Amino acid sequence: MIPVSEPDIGNKEIEYVDDAVRSGWVSSHGKYIDEFENNFRNYIGTKYGITASNGTAALHLAVTALGIKSGDEVIVPDLTFISPVNAVLYNNATPVLCDIDKNNWCIDANKIEDLITEKTKAIIAVHLYGNSADMDKIMGISKKYNIYVIEDTAESLGTDYKNKKLGSFGNVGCFSFYGNKTITTGEGGFCTTNNNELNEKMSMLRDHGMTSKKRYWHEMVGYNYRMTNLQAALGVAQLERIDSFIKRKREIAKIYNEKLSGYVITHPAGRDYNGTYWLYSILLKDKKERDNLMDYLFKNGVDSRKIFYAVHEMPLYNKYSHGNYPESISVSERGLSLPSSVKLKDEEIEYISKLIINFLK
Ligand SMILES: Cc1ncc(COP(=O)(O)O)c(C=O)c1O
Repeated sequence: MIPVSEPDIGNKEIEYVDDAVRSGWVSSHGKYIDEFENNFRNYIGTKYGITASNGTAALHLAVTALGIKSGDEVIVPDLTFISPVNAVLYNNATPVLCDIDKNNWCIDANKIEDLITEKTKAIIAVHLYGNSADMDKIMGISKKYNIYVIEDTAESLGTDYKNKKLGSFGNVGCFSFYGNKTITTGEGGFCTTNNNELNEKMSMLRDHGMTSKKRYWHEMVGYNYRMTNLQAALGVAQLERIDSFIKRKREIAKIYNEKLSGYVITHPAGRDYNGTYWLYSILLKDKKERDNLMDYLFKNGVDSRKIFYAVHEMPLYNKYSHGNYPESISVSERGLSLPSSVKLKDEEIEYISKLIINFLK
């Protein structure tokens, strides 16, 4: 079976993790934590940043550090992995679902202003599938209405928007290093920011609300959202290889584009950003065609993955909907992610593309 995604773990990763294990620093202190935090924030281009136990924890740290609480509203896209919606709900705040833009599959910046009320505290811009939301417009709205922006960059690590890395635009950028992400630490997350005070707050919240100045002195009700030195060791090695990972992701996308254009709607490519194609994804004619293609690929040894469900369609979240979500439904029902691992061979991409073309014929 050709998988949708698999991590590329090399000798360097094994060497650094081995070193971390042997050092005895197996929990959340150690040289690899410091190194990974330094290297990652430098890579994104923010002044500050901290590791977290996973991407969802990173989002919860951002929402909490920004003071978002019961009675507040946060605008989130209707098409997303569920974490950013849940991070808002953890604090008893209200997610307000916004439709997506068919050009980048991210929150539609032109539909945000209609959803703003006096209760709106933040926008979570989720950059899906290596794409980028329209950050110029979103940051303009943030300024105009004095509301925060959290970037959920879990799927778009390394994507440049107008030559600046995503995760460096909003008040906080949140990342995930789950095994299928562009780089992995097994489980892991990160919060980037240019605001020292916010960074301190997130750092305290991550470690039981304990002040860095006085051990076992707690100034807020915090969590244990720490990353381990073992995970960070994996992260340091993966980050050393990130340019080659992204280069390969872009090559894979180029081959799929060449093979599949004219047959399907190919993965979006924006004018303002250089995407990293976390999972190369296509749109079919309708849901039936998408579902049948998925079965056909599976029978021929190729795994694929449906795009997320529109959040408002799930009964649990329907009460957060406002109006209609035509674009979110369209991409959700017609979208399919194809194998996109950096270990994928050119012949495999050709085989998968041929299967798709045969199926459509
Ligand atoms: C857009 C998005 N946000 C957040 C997350 C959550 O990250 P984690 O699984 O590390 O909690 C993911 C996926 O894992 C994601 O795709």
